[in-house]
This record gives sequence, C-alpha cells and structure tokens, in this order.
Amino acid sequence: MAFIDWSDEYSVSVDIFDKEHQSLIAIINELHQGLISGFGIKEMTYILDRLLEYTSKHFYHEEKEMHAYSYPEFEDHKKAHEQLVADVKKYKDRLESGEQAFSLELLAFLKKWLVNHILGTDRKYSEFFAGKNI
Ligand code: FEO
Repeated sequence: MAFIDWSDEYSVSVDIFDKEHQSLIAIINELHQGLISGFGIKEMTYILDRLLEYTSKHFYHEEKEMHAYSYPEFEDHKKAHEQLVADVKKYKDRLESGEQAFSLELLAFLKKWLVNHILGTDRKYSEFFAGKNI
C-alpha cells in the first residue's frame, strides 16, 4: 500500500489537473519509499527538488487557466499556492542545513499539505471549470 493512495474523492473534475495531482502524489510516495529504504540526504533532496519543480509547474498551469477564464477566486488561490511553495522551501532549507532529518513528520506535512489543498482550495474550482476547454 502506498503512503498516499489516489482516491476518486480527490477528483477536481478536470482530467488534466487530476492527472497532475496524481503525479504529485506519486512523487510524495517516492519520498516515502526513499525514507523507508534509507536513502541519503542527497537522494532525498533530489526527489524533493523534483516535487517542488513539478508543483510549481502544476500551480502555474492552474493559475493560467484561472486567469484565462477570470476565475473569481484567482487571487486567493494564487496566494495559497505561494504559501505552500514557501512552506516546502523552508523545510528544504532546514534539511539542507542539517537542522532537520528527513522524517515521517515531514512526509505527514506534505501529505496534509497536498490533500488539504486539493480537497479544499482546488475543489472550489470544479464547478467553475465544468464544460470549459482545459
Ligand atoms: Fe492543484 Fe491549486 O493546486
């Protein structure tokens, strides 16, 4: 069983965004696998960098569509994205400075971070994007 299993309840009803969310979950699951397999800081940081890179791409994609269709909650959603990226970067800095070891606590944070954002903030756009060409 994976650390996070995709579930239909996570669907935001926009296929491309569901696929991107599944990719984000897959990277977090890789981090979990790395932790239990005893990967070193270098390998874990490499996966975390990929998570940050893919997250930025995904957030940009959502923001581009929100902006194109004048989504009314665009500004708040963008701010939530910025905060999430800043939070993960802070963790990354702590890991790189040796202040904190990669841990289940960090993975629990990432799981909560992603799932809460998808189930909360992202799900709000489902109805708005229904029938739009994304
Ligand atoms: Fe799917 Fe708003 O991130």
